[in-house]
Amino acid sequence: MTRVQVSGATGAIGRPLVNQRSETGADATDVPGTMRAARIHEYGDASVISLDEVPVPVPGPGEVLIRVAATSFNPSEVGLRMGLLRDVLGVTLPHTLGWDVAGTVVIGAGDFAPGDRVIGLIDGAAAEYAIAKAGVLARAPRRIPLTDAAAVPVAGLTAWQAVFDHARIGPGSRVLINGAGGGVGLFAVQLAKHAGAHVVATAGPRSAAAVRALGADEVVDYTVAPLPGGNDVLINLVAGLPASVTELAGEFVSITLPIEHPRAVQFVARNDPGQLAELVALIDKGVVDVRVDARPLESLADLHRAAERGLTRGKITLNVA
Ligand SMILES: NC(=O)c1ccc[n+]([C@@H]2O[C@H](COP(=O)([O-])OP(=O)(O)OC[C@H]3O[C@@H](n4cnc5c(N)ncnc54)[C@H](OP(=O)(O)O)[C@@H]3O)[C@@H](O)[C@H]2O)c1
Repeated sequence: MTRVQVSGATGAIGRPLVNQRSETGADATDVPGTMRAARIHEYGDASVISLDEVPVPVPGPGEVLIRVAATSFNPSEVGLRMGLLRDVLGVTLPHTLGWDVAGTVVIGAGDFAPGDRVIGLIDGAAAEYAIAKAGVLARAPRRIPLTDAAAVPVAGLTAWQAVFDHARIGPGSRVLINGAGGGVGLFAVQLAKHAGAHVVATAGPRSAAAVRALGADEVVDYTVAPLPGGNDVLINLVAGLPASVTELAGEFVSITLPIEHPRAVQFVARNDPGQLAELVALIDKGVVDVRVDARPLESLADLHRAAERGLTRGKITLNVA
């Protein structure tokens, strides 16, 4: 069960924002002094996640203040919460969770004015308000609800970079997407189809219909069947690698474990607001569909527990408002 704590101010959070002026001259008159934020105070099991009442963060030069509509769950945050990513992703405790943000600008900066709907890959989005450098944000898609758009930054950018930057899929490529039923996979299937590939996807019974509906040409149930070979590229989105993985394709892209092969790439997605804007354009054109399972922010700790037991699928958003 989520513990509710009331804690003092730390880090970049400070005084109430009432009557502060944005760079665009708008007043942030309706911003409260405090907000709820899902934080960890120490590394450990899911019980270290607590919803704290903390001061609303104050944006610095070039930063916007966002009223968060939703964030999303990313499984890598389970590792962060457990302390497994300490060496690669140092955070200061207490740390506010949430990498994906979808929300409305309250205090503007750069190209963004109060009232603009934005998305982005940031830190500290699992809260009622978040700050971000204006340069890392993109305008939210207009075709889908703002809360659903929280599904896009991490999963969408990772899929984009896997398909276009690393796998360099083209018309007629045969691509095997292993783990198509997850948050990244649902984007990867659609982007690979958009690139003109013949998409073979692995999905279990709970995700097969969604993966097929999003355009996969062939869906292989990984729970009963071996993974098919004869592919030009394998995009691996699963934490465990399939047996004899190097026999399945000529080239390999992995977002989890490295694959031992001369033509294999493992990568960590980078923040690229330009790519995010291109992805938003595809969403608005109806080329890419965004499917989410929406939960309240209060369910975050339970979600971590479910993910640890392999019980989550697809993209799960966390509504904050
Ligand atoms: N390198 C990076 O920058 C980066 C970025 C984002 C994520 N990641 C990592 O990439 C992985 C995927 O991320 P995600 O957000 O897509 O995760 P996710 O949404 O939690 O993925 C869950 C899905 O994994 C599928 N799955 C589990 N075991 C499988 C297997 N043996 N074969 C095929 N599918 C399997 C399940 O599919 P079914 O529903 O079909 O059973 C489930 O829907 C995670 O390990 C994450 O930490 C890395």
